[in-house]
Amino acid sequence: MERSDIVDNAMEFQDRMLSLGLARVSEAAAIAAFLQIGRGDQKAADQVAVDAMRTQLNMLDIKGVVVIGEGERDEAPMLYIGEEVGQGWKGDGAAPEVDIALDPLEGTTLTAKGMPNALAVIAMGPRNSMLHAPDVYMDKLAIGPGVERGVVDLDQDPADNVREFAKAKGLTSRDITVCILERPRHEDMIEKVRGTDASIRLISDGDVAGVIHTADRAHTGIDMYMGSGGAPEGVLAAAALRSMGGQIQGRLLFRNDDERGRAYKAGIEDLDRKYEMEDMVRDDVIFAATGVTDGSIVRGARRIGDRLETETILMRSATGSVRRIHYSRTIG
Ligand code: FBP
Repeated sequence: MERSDIVDNAMEFQDRMLSLGLARVSEAAAIAAFLQIGRGDQKAADQVAVDAMRTQLNMLDIKGVVVIGEGERDEAPMLYIGEEVGQGWKGDGAAPEVDIALDPLEGTTLTAKGMPNALAVIAMGPRNSMLHAPDVYMDKLAIGPGVERGVVDLDQDPADNVREFAKAKGLTSRDITVCILERPRHEDMIEKVRGTDASIRLISDGDVAGVIHTADRAHTGIDMYMGSGGAPEGVLAAAALRSMGGQIQGRLLFRNDDERGRAYKAGIEDLDRKYEMEDMVRDDVIFAATGVTDGSIVRGARRIGDRLETETILMRSATGSVRRIHYSRTIG
């Protein structure tokens, strides 16, 4: 065996081991958030998820840097952008240097209201593997696997995207379901999509789940995702699609100079750039999402007798592997 093979095997092994560690991190956040489901306090729900995720993350043998997190250092006491996490910072330097994108509770309002599709989400990859997206809006367009590049495009009219996608699938627009966040800013888009006869699944929050849904049409019934939402959520969704298959494009949207300043601070020079999936997630990553409330991709955390159960979807883009992990433990 060549030395390079040995090194490759060692890295592969580490990646595989880390992916299980990553699942524990999202599980911990979801378990913490479970106790806050339906209690009307989105801040409290977020806080417990952040605390739990940070504690678990700091147990991993990594030299991690949070590149998508809870906000800038002065806004977020924990899991802020740039925070160093993991045991590796204390050790002899052998731990892998990784970047981390996370959202301990994607869908704080969904959790507080006890509504579906809240997730604890985290992605990890080598240093500089993910776009350092500032906390601004991003225009997004996503579809599942099996359609050639260029059939749909962020710069194409939403109605044309639906028609072209349907044609490529050998269907009519009437057979297509598009997921869109229900916001006044999307009224025009919704009208245009309705004009094609396509069905629209409006969601109140949670566009990471919305995008992921396109990659598993058989279970979710959703073909496309379109509209604007958080840019950090766009990168997390791109990390998931890189493993599940599918396409996502995004473009940052700025409402004022403060937001433009955030982008420059994050190292972004071309503010109008259209990002492909591979621009947002430039290398192989691992991704874990644990259900907080029930969704079509993963079930929510639940209490059964004296046990608490979670379901996690764990993916590695290097192999395209998708695992589901059911975890249960006794609670007091
Ligand atoms: P939170 O988890 O921070 O509540 O975000 C939920 C969410 O719906 C995201 O999924 C989405 O990207 C973003 O908020 C949309 O932002 P807005 O509510 O401002 O339209």
